[in-house]
Amino acid sequence: MTEQGTPLGVGIVGVGGIALSHMAALRTMTGARLVAVCDLDADRAAEVAHTERCAGYGSVDELLADDAVEAVIVCTPNMTHEALGLQVLTAGRHLLMEKPLALTPEGARRVAAEADARGLALAVGHSHRFTDQSLAIREVIDSGDIGTPRFVRVVMNGGWIWPGWQAWVLDPELSGGHSLHNGVHLIDLASWWIGEPATSVFSVGQHATSEALQIHDYLVMGLGFASGASGVCEISRGELPRSAGYLELTVVGTEGVLSRSWDAEGVLAWTDTGLTAWGVDGSGGRTFVRELEAFAAAARGEVEVVPPVSAAIHAVDVAAASEASLREGRTMTIGATA
Ligand SMILES: NC(=O)c1ccc[n+]([C@@H]2O[C@H](COP(=O)([O-])OP(=O)(O)OC[C@H]3O[C@@H](n4cnc5c(N)ncnc54)[C@H](O)[C@@H]3O)[C@@H](O)[C@H]2O)c1
Repeated sequence: MTEQGTPLGVGIVGVGGIALSHMAALRTMTGARLVAVCDLDADRAAEVAHTERCAGYGSVDELLADDAVEAVIVCTPNMTHEALGLQVLTAGRHLLMEKPLALTPEGARRVAAEADARGLALAVGHSHRFTDQSLAIREVIDSGDIGTPRFVRVVMNGGWIWPGWQAWVLDPELSGGHSLHNGVHLIDLASWWIGEPATSVFSVGQHATSEALQIHDYLVMGLGFASGASGVCEISRGELPRSAGYLELTVVGTEGVLSRSWDAEGVLAWTDTGLTAWGVDGSGGRTFVRELEAFAAAARGEVEVVPPVSAAIHAVDVAAASEASLREGRTMTIGATA
């Protein structure tokens, strides 16, 4: 269905917040183009379709009946992912699923198995893999300058954003809780930089904004790895002032230390031979373009999917175990929930 040399026809399911980033990226691309959108809110779909000059539908069934749609980006709330993902793949379309791949390890594996059985590209929106700083950190690790990574710390704390968060995010039945909603981004980066999957997780969380909150707006996940390496992933969406944003990325290797602090202009690598600065543009402007270019190339069969589906499944495994750790107050072995 996907022909070499022609732009990939993309349909978007769910035109809420994150769909805007995908649509903005598609407008700048030559390898893929937006051909259709759909939303349960048919008026919203029609409005977006008018602006984007594409077809607009009120249901996924209608979107999948459109032959111009060769690949689909699912941008709907987390609890819909498994069923919609299976529907898109069963209809023979390549799939870019927004994170998390599914709410359960079993669900993630069902979607992955369907894509595999049908020979379709399945990518998951771990967009942080495509930021300038993430790519620079991976490049420094690959250069060998800091030796073998032994410890990673990923801190992404943010200002108080309620009521901006949709009601479904605040309901753990619908979002999966903070480990699955935002935590999967950090888990994915930590495993990617350490270079192996995590084997254990211990999590602590707070309901900092209000005791009435059912998800942990402040969450710390401690990760263990089979090699003995370890990691800390810290995420919040409950800080004041509302505009607060704090990012800190650290990788400690056997030969040096890599860090990107919130006020740095780039990534710094400390080794015995000195200090190296890696300038990166932290604006994130190319993040979604890179993600979609990688997906389009995979849909055309030119490259493997990035990040691999196994990494997205692993992120769900660890996040589900993290939520179990929060409930049970103990260290969870990864795989025990799968
Ligand atoms: N990669 C990232 O950095 C990032 C950032 C934010 C959100 N996300 C993910 O993107 C997804 C969407 O989040 P959002 O903040 O855009 O949500 P949102 O609530 O703003 O938008 C979701 C849209 O989907 C529509 N919808 C719901 N069910 C549907 C269905 N069955 N068929 C068609 N449309 C349906 C809703 O009407 C709404 O317009 C979530 O999975 C979230 O985890 C990813």
